[in-house]
Amino acid sequence: MRTYYCNQINESQIESEVQVCGWVNKIRDHGGVIFIDLRDIKGLVQIVVNPDNKNLFNLAESIRSEYIISVTGKPRLRPPGSENLKIDSGKVEIVSSQLEILSKAETPPFQFGDDVNEDNRLKYRVHDLKSNKMQKNLSVRSTVVKIIRNYLSQLDFLEIETPILTKATPEGARDYLVPSRVNQGQFYALPQSPQLFKQMLMMSGYEKYYQIAKCFRDEDLRADRQPEFTQLDIEMSFIDQNYVIAVIEKLFEEIFLEVLDFKINLPIERITYSDSMDRFGSDRPDMRIPFEIKNINNIVKDCEFKVFSDPASQDGKKVSALCIPSEAKLSRRDIDLYTDIAISKGSQGLAYIKCNDVKDLDNGLQSPIIKFLDAKTIENILKDVNATNGDIIFFSAGPDSLVNNILGSLRCKIAEDKNLINDEWKFVWVTDFPMFEHDIETKKWKCLHHPFTMPVFTNTEDIEKNPQSLLSKSYDLVLNGTELGGGSIRINDSEVQNSIFNVLGLNDKEIKNQFGFFIESMKYGCPPHGGIAFGLDRIIMLITKSKSIREVIAFPKTQTASCSLTGAPANIDQEQINDLGLKLNNKDLKK
Ligand code: AMO
Ligand code: AMP
Repeated sequence: MRTYYCNQINESQIESEVQVCGWVNKIRDHGGVIFIDLRDIKGLVQIVVNPDNKNLFNLAESIRSEYIISVTGKPRLRPPGSENLKIDSGKVEIVSSQLEILSKAETPPFQFGDDVNEDNRLKYRVHDLKSNKMQKNLSVRSTVVKIIRNYLSQLDFLEIETPILTKATPEGARDYLVPSRVNQGQFYALPQSPQLFKQMLMMSGYEKYYQIAKCFRDEDLRADRQPEFTQLDIEMSFIDQNYVIAVIEKLFEEIFLEVLDFKINLPIERITYSDSMDRFGSDRPDMRIPFEIKNINNIVKDCEFKVFSDPASQDGKKVSALCIPSEAKLSRRDIDLYTDIAISKGSQGLAYIKCNDVKDLDNGLQSPIIKFLDAKTIENILKDVNATNGDIIFFSAGPDSLVNNILGSLRCKIAEDKNLINDEWKFVWVTDFPMFEHDIETKKWKCLHHPFTMPVFTNTEDIEKNPQSLLSKSYDLVLNGTELGGGSIRINDSEVQNSIFNVLGLNDKEIKNQFGFFIESMKYGCPPHGGIAFGLDRIIMLITKSKSIREVIAFPKTQTASCSLTGAPANIDQEQINDLGLKLNNKDLKK
């Protein structure tokens, strides 16, 4: 129905007949001449309707915003001064000779670009998706997927689908369940990831697998979390960690070059989990922030100030300093605000030193704690954190996790509040995660990655003896403070796999029930293998500089995991309930 897309109309077609179609972006009547901005997936073009053709003009007068029309006419140069260089076709306009209304439209629920609240945008998603921004985001998403598929298939990866109706995979969230009609009382779980299937494909000898996979997790939602999201899921055999990392770095190099014309500096920096926690208070450090945390245990462990010397000399506790550069220009009020934040997170306080003149220890420093510290200690601290005049050093003392939490979040908050985050792309690999962490609530061990991750060990017996000190062969890729993806080298020995389940507190029956098929499969031979999975939505969110992954998903869910457009989840008929053999509590039934 068209000879050109709107954006393709230009001087080269002047005086030749063209046909375009699309949506009426705007229509205005300029004293007898009607101008229509016509929009299609590629862009805009201006249509002119002159009053000399009465029928055409009358028809044009009936057209409203968002009508879908087809236009035939001849392009001409716009009069000098009325060009619109913001659009590709902006030097010309089409003088229409024929118009057809293909579909009428009611007044749209909102104008693009207005400050529309998100509930409304999600409810009228079909209209919302017409906006330039959404169309650009989804087109970037499609381009990235195309690059991924080309890149991986060139490396002989096979794209293989795995089931959606399946058994639970433990990725740490609650499962979405689907009741079975045929096997009443039994449920499928939707996959939290294809983890077990991709490992079984390795056992079957596929060697290099990938999938753009839908994953489902019933967990608290945030800007970068959806109940249903998409992973780029990858697994390979006969490889080590460096190999996986190299394959991925090249992939990201291609994506960023092609989509953003940005050359990533390879190899990407790697830091261990333990360094990351110490230096950034987080396992997804934002490397754009130009200041970091410094552990000062060694400097303060013998000082007189008990608030510092006690934790500095105890296991599991520490004292760290965060030196905020003078550019932040922190005020007295800022210091109070950040202290309140520290206290709200469970600290007794937030000690600080304001460095007016670092050369003058007697009069050049303002601080509630220097009176407790000797000159040598103060000097060492200033030196260790590289303090210069105008800087403010914050201190946190206490359990490792508390100190990390306080200084890690202050680092990000202050950088954001004071505009100190450089606008750039900063990737980092975080490696060597602990295998387990202790869950205070359940008093059980749980895996930092998942239970199929290979621990670093010499004797299998050590796994169950010393779970707290086990590291794992795992790696996360972080970009600008967001975890893009994570993976690991996997366990390929059923005995080791069983020990991990034992540490997690699963008994033989539970292991057999939940993972019997998997351990059984492993017994028939399992190559060394490993892989990784990325949140595709998150990658696109960052590339398009969107605030949430909802901006890069065509039909996302709200914060309460529902779909405002379709109304899902919804009640079902009593008949369907009966078919499934279910019985609902009346209080659960919404009208
Ligand atoms: P993990 O659980 O770390 O690893 O998930 C991999 C990546 O998926 C993204 N992601 C999400 N994105 C949007 N909404 C969510 N609710 C959500 N949850 C996770 C993140 C995350 O980094 N099977 C392992 C991978 C492996 O070991 O190969 C796994 O799923 O970007
Ligand atoms: P106090 O001796 O309680 O008056 O504390 C002296 C200073 O140390 C105050 O500025 C407190 O905010 C600070 N402070 C107290 N406990 C801690 C802590 N655990 N970490 C960091 N600063 C602290």
